[in-house]
Amino acid sequence: MSDAGELQKLEETFRAAIEAASDEAALEEVRVRALGKKGEISQLMKGLGKLDPEQRKARGAALNQLKGRISALLNTRRQALRDAALEERLKSETIDVTLPVRPQAQGAVHPVSHVWEEVVEIFADLGFSVAEGPHIETDWYNFEALNIPPEHPARQEHDTFYFHKKDDGTRRVLRTHTSPVQIRTMEKGELPIRIIAPGRTFRCDSDQTHTPMFHQVEALVLDDHTHMGHLKWTLEEFCKAFFETDNVKMRFRASHFPFTEPSMEVDINCAWQGGQVKVGEGDDWLEILGSGMVHPNVIRAGGFDPDKVQGYAFGIGIDRLAMLKYGIPDLRAFFESDLRWLRHYGFRALDVPTLAGGLSA
Ligand code: DAH
Repeated sequence: MSDAGELQKLEETFRAAIEAASDEAALEEVRVRALGKKGEISQLMKGLGKLDPEQRKARGAALNQLKGRISALLNTRRQALRDAALEERLKSETIDVTLPVRPQAQGAVHPVSHVWEEVVEIFADLGFSVAEGPHIETDWYNFEALNIPPEHPARQEHDTFYFHKKDDGTRRVLRTHTSPVQIRTMEKGELPIRIIAPGRTFRCDSDQTHTPMFHQVEALVLDDHTHMGHLKWTLEEFCKAFFETDNVKMRFRASHFPFTEPSMEVDINCAWQGGQVKVGEGDDWLEILGSGMVHPNVIRAGGFDPDKVQGYAFGIGIDRLAMLKYGIPDLRAFFESDLRWLRHYGFRALDVPTLAGGLSA
């Protein structure tokens, strides 16, 4: 066979091998076989020395060109294999963003969270903003500033969780109500105040209507003119919006709280039907909240002059509201994390309560 024929055959063999290489490793083997130190083309180049000058020149040029073409073919194939591998990976990692996020949603929005949102929505519409305070409180904020001095009988009613005494003799408590947020808000020194403070509260108590952790929403309105009429109107508006009926009859009963004077408890008119309560019907009454005009001592503790500043406060149990509105008989089940219970009473994640769209929609 002529030299040219031999080189052409070699080129075809390598061209075919390059085409056939199915991945980069296989291609590398072909490269080594052709152009590696002991590769066939390299071997032929080494043989050039034995030729006479004329022949060496011609064959050398031919071998160099062959080497160039094989190199180019190898590079092209390598790039093609890389592109294909990337394409393959991208395909396998594709996410169909139109699929549901969690095809089998397990949970639901807890009724307490839902009612919490409902309450915030209603009061936001009435011009209140949301305030917060810590769960661990000092004696001052939880009791003393709220006109509950040491030895006051109201302290016993609170079944307080106490922390260990500190070196200075003080001990902190888990807040027994959301009322401390009243003081923390007043301390900022700005009037008028129109806040609600929804949050967790703690008392050492457990039965069908009490759990050691529960939720309250506190409200405080303070300026130079707010009176009891405003309080009654606000509570009526709240009840109508919350129970989604204009038919709410309310009863304001004189009561006593250390932090308000005068104080009232509020009952709503209801009927019990098959273990469920219907608001606005029948002739039963159910207590839903405590309220009153802020006591002068509390205003003073908050840093204002009770001769110039006045207002009202109230506190509602959120869990209690949830039980009433959604007919849930046992408070303890709220905190047992039983998924079956949650699926029964819970709300879908996208059912955000709005006044326009319906609170319990
Ligand atoms: N802090 C009271 C409690 O937990 C509830 C309460 C009653 C709050 C009357 C108030 C109020 O702001 O005016 O039992």
